[in-house]
Amino acid sequence: MKLLPATRKHIQEIMEIDQAAFPEPWSKKLWLKEIDRMHRSYYVASDGEGVIGYGGGLLAGDDFHITTIAVEESNLKKGVATQIMIKLLEEAIILGATDLTLEVRVGNLPAQALYRKFGMAPAGIRRSYYQPDNEDALIMWANDIHENSYKVLLDSIKRELIPKETITS
Ligand SMILES: CC(C)(COP(=O)(O)OP(=O)(O)OC[C@H]1O[C@@H](n2cnc3c(N)ncnc32)[C@H](O)[C@@H]1OP(=O)(O)O)[C@@H](O)C(=O)NCCC(=O)NCCS
Repeated sequence: MKLLPATRKHIQEIMEIDQAAFPEPWSKKLWLKEIDRMHRSYYVASDGEGVIGYGGGLLAGDDFHITTIAVEESNLKKGVATQIMIKLLEEAIILGATDLTLEVRVGNLPAQALYRKFGMAPAGIRRSYYQPDNEDALIMWANDIHENSYKVLLDSIKRELIPKETITS
C-alpha cells in the first residue's frame, strides 16, 4: 500500500468512498477546493489498483484539524486508516502543529477507537452538529503532538503495523 498526496486525478475515487462512508458526502466542488488550498493536507491510500482510503485536515494556528477520513469497505480493519493517520500527523508536526483536534459522531465508536489509539481524548460536545439527523459531535483533542512523548506513541503504533503491512510512502 502507498500513501500519496491527493490530487485532482483521485477525486472520482475519493468521492465514491466518501459517498459510501458518510450520509453527507462532500460535493466535487468542495473536494476540489479543499485539496487545492494552502495549509491543507489530503492523502490517499492506494493498493496499486486504486484508491482504498483517504484522509485529510488543515492547520489553523497551532492546531491541526482532521476534517475527514474513510476507508473503502472491503479494506476495513486492515490498518489503512492507521497508516493515513500516521501520515497526516507526521505532516501536521512538520507544518508546526502542536495540537490535534476533530469532531466525530457520538455514535461512531469505531472512529473514536481509532482516534483514542492516537492519544485523542473527548473534550466536549457540539449539539446537533451533524445533519440530516442532528446527531451530536464529540470533540476530541490530543495535545503536544510536537513533543518527543508523542513521537514515541507514533513509533509504537508504526511498530504494531509492521506485521500487518510494510508502509511504502
Ligand atoms: C473509522 C475508519 C476510518 C477506520 O478505518 P480502518 O482502516 O478500518 O481502521 P484500522 O484498521 O486502521 O483500525 C485502527 C483502529 O480503529 C479502531 N477500529 C477500526 N474499526 C473498528 C470497528 N469496526 N470497531 C471498533 N474499533 C474499530 C480500532 O481501535 C483499530 O485498532 P486495532 O486494529 O488495533 O483494534 C473506518 O471504519 C471508516 O471508514 N468508517 C466510515 C467513515 C468514518 O466514520 N470516518 C470517521 C469520521 S469522524
